[in-house]
Amino acid sequence: MNTDRTVRTFTDFYRERGHRLITGSTLLPPPSDPVLFTTSGMHPLTPYLQGRPHPQGRRLINLQRCLRTTDLDEIGDLTHLTVFEMLGSWSLGDYSHSQSLRWGYELLRDGFGIPQDRLYVTVFGGDDQVGPDTESLRTWQELGLPVEPTDDENWWSNGPVGPCGPDSEIFVWTGDPGTPPQGTPTTDPRWVEIWNHVNMRYRRKEDGSLEPLPQPGIDTGMGLERLMTVLQGHRSVYETDLFEPWMRLLPPLWDLDEPSTRLVCDHLRSGIVVLGDGVRPSNTGRGHVLRRLIRRVLTTLRRDDPSRTLTDLPVELVGHTLDHFHQSCGTGTVREFLLDEEQRFTNLLERGQRVLSRREFEGPLSEEDYQYLHDTHGLPRDLVAGLLTTD
Ligand code: ALA
Repeated sequence: MNTDRTVRTFTDFYRERGHRLITGSTLLPPPSDPVLFTTSGMHPLTPYLQGRPHPQGRRLINLQRCLRTTDLDEIGDLTHLTVFEMLGSWSLGDYSHSQSLRWGYELLRDGFGIPQDRLYVTVFGGDDQVGPDTESLRTWQELGLPVEPTDDENWWSNGPVGPCGPDSEIFVWTGDPGTPPQGTPTTDPRWVEIWNHVNMRYRRKEDGSLEPLPQPGIDTGMGLERLMTVLQGHRSVYETDLFEPWMRLLPPLWDLDEPSTRLVCDHLRSGIVVLGDGVRPSNTGRGHVLRRLIRRVLTTLRRDDPSRTLTDLPVELVGHTLDHFHQSCGTGTVREFLLDEEQRFTNLLERGQRVLSRREFEGPLSEEDYQYLHDTHGLPRDLVAGLLTTD
């Protein structure tokens, strides 16, 4: 099953059950939102989950691009991505959590063909504020699936305040074919989480207390790339059809170890999407995140060959990414910004090398040195640290 067919299977399933497909929003939340980037499918729906009527009704679905900087240290492994897409379904004060779980199970089993014996679920076991989620427990038991109760791992919130609630996560066994499932989701990492069904029942207030939402809702999210990895029987998201041109064109171009290839692929692809959504490199906010992504690519590329350059980045990869995310800014514009950023980084490195070769910077640097290098010469701390370790 390729990605397009998988997305269609999802949307057809929910359309048949009265859901409307809303247009995926960009990575940029509205100006009033305190976060830099959209981090989950529900993000653009926050006001509606708190009771505002949605113009398209009470049953919605979406494919939303998301960006998470919390996982940056994991990038290069087999499953984490900076920019990823989330399939989501929502009930705004309509059907129950139990109904959402039943449909979820039906779609995985009949729509995607995942056998029941490769599934395990977790439910909220209760804490000092909220009791255990007995509705989900009973539903899964009726459906005959193994259930593991946990505490804070089964509680979803999108931030310190706002809508939140207990959730139930669905895991798929990804051990070698022929190896019967072992352990539970919290004891064996071969159980991979693919779908989260949140019972949005509360709003967390500034003081940490919870108040019930006037209209409880359901918010579900399933990472598309991870789903494709499972459905296509791969170990890594980079082996799915979504990354086909990347994995065909990058390794022959730049001979890197596997984690570095994955990192370069992730950060370049993410950088292109962020540029495609109109962000430009800068020293603050979203532009700073973009700058960090591009500089990390350059540092990785140049580590064992300083002649590597983004000039060689195949335009096909830029075009493929912009097409996939339905972005219209054009490959030429994206390339221009990438190359401009590369030039700035090169200039900065040269300046850094010159300044650091002065006698006053021999030996370990003090806090004041770092401050001076930053304020007077525009040399960020991580860049100085990088230059010192390569000397
Ligand atoms: N908002 C929930 C998540 O992102 C569904 O996991």
